[in-house]
Amino acid sequence: MWLPLGLVLLAAEALAVKRHDFKTCDQSGFCKRGRALASRAKEAASTWKSPYSVDPSSVAISAQKSTFTASVLSSLYPEIKFELDVRAHADGTFRVRMDEVDGLRKRYDETSKWALVREPTLSETITWKQTKKEIKAVNTKSGVELKVQFEPLRVALLRNGKEEVVINGKGLLHMEHFRLKDEEPTPPVEGQAQDDSQTVLQPPVNPTAWFEGEQAAVWDETFGGQTDTKPRGPQSLSLDINFPTHGHIYGIPEHATRLDLPTTTGENAKYSDPYRLYNLDVFEYEADSEMALYGAVPLVHAHGVHSTVGVFNAIGSETWVDVGHPSTESTETQWISESGILDVFLLPGPTPEDVFRQYARLTGTPVMPRHFALAYHQCRWNYISSSDVREVQSRFDADDIPFDVLWLDIEYAPNHKYFIWNEKTFPDPVPMFNDVAAYGRKMVVIIDPHLKKDNDYPVYKSASEKGLLVKPSSGQGEYDGWCWPGSSAWVDYFNLASWDWWQGLFKVDGNNGDWHWKDSTTDVFIWNDMNEPSVFNGPEITMPKTNLHFDGWEHRDVHNINGMLFQNATSQAVKYRTDPPQRPFVLSRAFFAGSQRFGAVWTGDNLGTWEHMAIGVPMVLSNGIAGITFSGADVGGFFGNPDIEMLVRWYQVGAFAPFFRAHAHIDTKRREPFLLSEPHKSMVRDIIRLRYSLLPVWYTAFRYSSVSGVPVLRPQYTVFPNDPKGFSLDEQYFIGNSGLLVKPVTAPGVTQTTVYLAEAQPYYDYFTGHIYRGKRSGVEVTVPAALHEIPLLIRGGSIVPTRERPRRSSALMKKDPFTLRIALDAAEEASGDLYLDDGDSYLYEAGELVWRRFNAAKSGKSTFKITSEDLVAINNGQNVVDGAIVPVSGPNAFKESVSAVRVEKIVVYGLKAKPSKITLANGGEVEWDFVAGTSAKSGEGVASALTMRDPAVRITEDWSIEITL
Ligand code: NOJ
Repeated sequence: MWLPLGLVLLAAEALAVKRHDFKTCDQSGFCKRGRALASRAKEAASTWKSPYSVDPSSVAISAQKSTFTASVLSSLYPEIKFELDVRAHADGTFRVRMDEVDGLRKRYDETSKWALVREPTLSETITWKQTKKEIKAVNTKSGVELKVQFEPLRVALLRNGKEEVVINGKGLLHMEHFRLKDEEPTPPVEGQAQDDSQTVLQPPVNPTAWFEGEQAAVWDETFGGQTDTKPRGPQSLSLDINFPTHGHIYGIPEHATRLDLPTTTGENAKYSDPYRLYNLDVFEYEADSEMALYGAVPLVHAHGVHSTVGVFNAIGSETWVDVGHPSTESTETQWISESGILDVFLLPGPTPEDVFRQYARLTGTPVMPRHFALAYHQCRWNYISSSDVREVQSRFDADDIPFDVLWLDIEYAPNHKYFIWNEKTFPDPVPMFNDVAAYGRKMVVIIDPHLKKDNDYPVYKSASEKGLLVKPSSGQGEYDGWCWPGSSAWVDYFNLASWDWWQGLFKVDGNNGDWHWKDSTTDVFIWNDMNEPSVFNGPEITMPKTNLHFDGWEHRDVHNINGMLFQNATSQAVKYRTDPPQRPFVLSRAFFAGSQRFGAVWTGDNLGTWEHMAIGVPMVLSNGIAGITFSGADVGGFFGNPDIEMLVRWYQVGAFAPFFRAHAHIDTKRREPFLLSEPHKSMVRDIIRLRYSLLPVWYTAFRYSSVSGVPVLRPQYTVFPNDPKGFSLDEQYFIGNSGLLVKPVTAPGVTQTTVYLAEAQPYYDYFTGHIYRGKRSGVEVTVPAALHEIPLLIRGGSIVPTRERPRRSSALMKKDPFTLRIALDAAEEASGDLYLDDGDSYLYEAGELVWRRFNAAKSGKSTFKITSEDLVAINNGQNVVDGAIVPVSGPNAFKESVSAVRVEKIVVYGLKAKPSKITLANGGEVEWDFVAGTSAKSGEGVASALTMRDPAVRITEDWSIEITL
């Protein structure tokens, strides 16, 4: 179609991020200085030597022998002292900390306070051994060793004698000490090098001189017309962390990029800037970019065939991460942060699962969600009135399309005063909630962190009177910024007094003297948006770094942590609305390390384009690598009006994401599933119903994740860590340990696609039972993928429990019977788990749950047995993280409540012959039929299928069925 040029430009602009609103590394003083340090080191090559060294005489090993401290000196600034603190933990992880001692100011050292769930237990078996040149500790059990070289300071994690992680190996460590503006540090004297053959970092007259003519702002820094006065001066931290034997690196979300992180340095760099970790509201973000987005988790997995290791750099200030691959088998990273101490956790693996557990032991396991939260969510900006809400609900019901949650965006609130209802459009909030709840459904209402500055707004007034608001740099009064309501203030959640106050607001009944949300019910859940925080007139659309939080910390120090505290406070507030507490559901846009403990996140304002649909998949996988497993992308795309093919595909993507929500911008056309015409309406209905039928799989996967830290979506490298062909795959993934392997289609015009199979096993088409045969050396198979088809395979060896009766909402499925799909592997065996609990309360922590293991195995030469046994776990402290399975004794009212629930159908795929007899151990009869086909042992084509109807076995009981061939 021909368009006038003006319109073309307009259209192009409308779909482009405003890059100039956000800094590049070059425009950020500390990042530019950090990168310049790396280029100087590169130019100097082998003559470069880090100025930092450990004073061997200062090494003090603790009485328990698992930790030591030592003084660190910099030859550049001999008068400045640093302390190194290294700890060996019982689980094999290590912590390396370094801080300035008696500096002009205190560096921010509280990131771990907010990110960690507990101080890790110290090792009782490891001991530090010191020589003249180094100090090291060896874990004889795992073969892992941590070695700290004194001169120059260099920290290495070795496995079986080989270095796997090296800190400061390239000498890019630089902790800019605090100084006064008119007192630039005294330059060290020329020739201070202890070893004349080395070019010691030459003394700067002032730090800018390091960069040979490059002008990097050190003190005041102006960007986009706003000046960061840096009243406390520069205090950045640069650090190189290298992985000499790992060629792949994953993590550091949130970026719109591939799972296997592309390079940012070196000749073949894909991006010219480092990955930026700085929570930002990036309008119309690019689908392929290193730019910062809404969340930040400073965690990486480095992976190779021999092992996986993790590094968690616990820092909450703005951080840039350069990634390079000097060879296909190695990775180099440089982390440049604006403020804070060095606090790095080394997670030795050696498998991806081990790293997940090690990280979860530090920052917590993902929350066990409310059951409804895994079902389908319908959102848009905005459902405009309570009658609109009722109408949407009835249209879904009229078309038999299930949904669980209806969302209200900001327009319910007059002048965007959250909690308050627009009386004209929402005159009856409580009856509205109750009408929705009548079908077992819930509503989610948005509560943003900015409060309209208006003394008639009780929430603002109360926060202001109590002194709970973030302060400007002067420390006086309240910071004033611009957001949806106009002039706004922000609650300071670093002040724990805010948490109590916030909890009080969410009480739906009672009279605690203060204002509270009476026009609400306990069926209402919360959406925390704009919590980077987004400030329309702030630098880079966020808060000035000079703003002050509790205890006088600058916003600069805590920026990336800020949004997590808001979600944390809200989830506690929702949890304690009732007595006993109920599991909360809170969606957040901003996140940090540890956010997995508080709820779900989504990938923000994506565009309705194929590129955005496609990149959403690795983005969600990458969040999961960093612990944030409960995540998803706006189905349909937030901006724009997707065509019908795109919309159907987007539902397929969403149905296979942990968080499944359709959402759309206020300017888009309505696109709820009931508005679609045939055949697309039925396609979308089928996709949503498929999600509902698979809810037992999702819930079981979440349970496993909540005890182990292993993500719900498992990319190929985590399942087949020794198969290099899978290390960069990020379009297909497994769901928990269910054996379901999905590859959503994210491109137009597709009728078939390929799926990579890494092992010599049969994989079964979920819908047709067609067997695709994998190979030991890996093979790509072609699977049908027309618009109504989803490439979904069952890995041979799996038993998949489903509930297949279509209902209006998931609450109505609680007593529904189960179907078991048994997909035999090449050894003609299979197993699978099913986890159930009441979906709402915390009683599962006391053992009120059902956790079954199904097995199918040969019991004789020509007999098979299918069995169901108890596999119960309780959630108590450490065991949760270690995934310990502990039998429960005592009352289990939940189990009683579902004791009548049956298995209504069992399908066994891949038997090699028709059974001659099927017997139930309880003596019951079973009706069955057998359709001959390909066996699990060999061949491709439609698998043989044995279908048993109503075998009269119950889900909570032990049972067995014997099949004689
Ligand atoms: C920005 C969010 O990302 C979007 O999802 C929401 O609809 C708007 N804010 C309005 O609240």
